Amino acid sequence: MARHHVTATVNGDAVEFLCETEETLLEVLRDELRLTGTKEGCGTGDCGACSVMLDGRLVCSCLVLGVEAEGRAIETIEGMAVGGDLHVLQRKFLEHAALQCGICTPGILIAAKSLLAHNPNPTESEVRYGLAGNLCRCTGYHKIVEAVLDAAREMRGG
Ligand code: FES
Ligand code: FES
Repeated sequence: MARHHVTATVNGDAVEFLCETEETLLEVLRDELRLTGTKEGCGTGDCGACSVMLDGRLVCSCLVLGVEAEGRAIETIEGMAVGGDLHVLQRKFLEHAALQCGICTPGILIAAKSLLAHNPNPTESEVRYGLAGNLCRCTGYHKIVEAVLDAAREMRGG
């Protein structure tokens, strides 16, 4: 079957790719565009490891088809640091030792970025709720929540 030609923006750059009808955005990002920072955990929308922003909305890229990206803006973990400068969330994750493994951390950072974009002054509960879709079976999440709250403070200029 003919592959679909898709044009989109990824981390501000215009991209085009060919994909099968059933290919997910996650597969396109990793296998076609070689942006392997976005991870596959479950492949069924349960773990958040594949989180990306699609037109400013947090989505599980394993549940989005590559063809649905046509004309849309995608942000991945690769676009979070600008040049050599880490995003404040990345810096706070380092400072608070909030980093988990390479499978769950990219999705957690993207979800945290989305959370703060919509709510710059979240309560602890709101942070926990905002990250509820990102699973890590290895942590109590406490350092992650502290890092996100600290990042929010700095981003507000506090
Ligand atoms: S891989 Fe998409 S939610 Fe788990
Ligand atoms: S799943 Fe990444 S450290 Fe637990």
